[in-house]
Amino acid sequence: MTSSSNAVPPVLIIGAGTIGLSIGWELARTGTPVQIFDRDAPGRGATWKAGGMLTPDAELQFEESELYRLNHESLDRWPAFVETLERETGIDLGFRTEGTLTVAPDEDSAAAMERVYKFQKKVGADVERLTGAEAREHEPFLAPHVAGAVYTDDAQVNNRALVRALVAGINNYEGSIHSQTPVEAVDPDADAPAVVTAAGDRIEGQQVIVAAGAWSRQIEGLDEAVRPPVRPVRGQILELESRPTFDLRHVVRGPDAYLVPKADGRVLVGATSEEKGFEKAVTAGGLYNLLEGALELVPGLRELTVRRSDVGLRPGTRDNAPLLGPSGAPGVLYATGHYRHGILLTPVTAQEIATLVRTGTVSEWLEAFLPARFADAPAAV
Ligand code: GLY
Repeated sequence: MTSSSNAVPPVLIIGAGTIGLSIGWELARTGTPVQIFDRDAPGRGATWKAGGMLTPDAELQFEESELYRLNHESLDRWPAFVETLERETGIDLGFRTEGTLTVAPDEDSAAAMERVYKFQKKVGADVERLTGAEAREHEPFLAPHVAGAVYTDDAQVNNRALVRALVAGINNYEGSIHSQTPVEAVDPDADAPAVVTAAGDRIEGQQVIVAAGAWSRQIEGLDEAVRPPVRPVRGQILELESRPTFDLRHVVRGPDAYLVPKADGRVLVGATSEEKGFEKAVTAGGLYNLLEGALELVPGLRELTVRRSDVGLRPGTRDNAPLLGPSGAPGVLYATGHYRHGILLTPVTAQEIATLVRTGTVSEWLEAFLPARFADAPAAV
């Protein structure tokens, strides 16, 4: 595996999840050659196991105002991103805009929902509080005991179609994806940084981008002070098969589970959030908690067929926000640590990192997410 000496050197991207692929597509379509490396097939990590929710208001957390701003900016960019990618590839991304109902199945969760609702109003989110009856009018499949809900006008996408489309999009241009090709190390350099694969190939490029999600910290060749402080956070998810009589329209979120009806007939029930390192087990307790949490919101799920259970490793960081921009090692950028929002943050990450590669300028969208914010306390993850 070599790059021709006369050609423009490629941007080397480690990780073919939604982040690595979308950066690759964005660069390739504007004339920059890219090579993308993945330990597996494209998109088969956390991207494949995601719900595909694009829900910044419904997933708003206290103390995450900067992240909320970025999440919202990315949601605003999603329609044009879908339009361009679908036009270039002919692949339907299953983009749906019915919105999300955050549901309170009991008094305790109603009180928690009310606190979040006040915070949502404070940050200017477009949220609407509904009584139980109003919520059921919007979504007849909600349980009769649901006492109230908050509606948010957001979206969702088919994350697996997204992978297929990004791969097709990259193949339209000067981009190559090396599947089953783990990168063992990077070799930082301001002029000709390189990656070294597990098979021992050394490939030089104009820039290296680490977009390896939960595995980003395992890449060798970076000083301890700048290694990305990313850890795996396990998410178990269940895939059910819908029926003609079960026409759930909205994403439904409760305190212990969320339900995502996909345009292709799948209904996803997610997701646990567990600190178990790289252990990728689907557990009886995990599935029990998901089903219990989901059935109390939408009892009609009981009749659906279980297709499969799955598990993904989210790339968590200490402040739950991504690492975007110069790594501190010459020639190496980070686009990793997207934790719960990798699919949502795809357009803004791809476009702003591509701009950084092309111009060398850190945009205002990246400033709050620069990896250097962890430079004072690099050791703990
Ligand atoms: N954003 C959904 C999840 O991380 O489970």
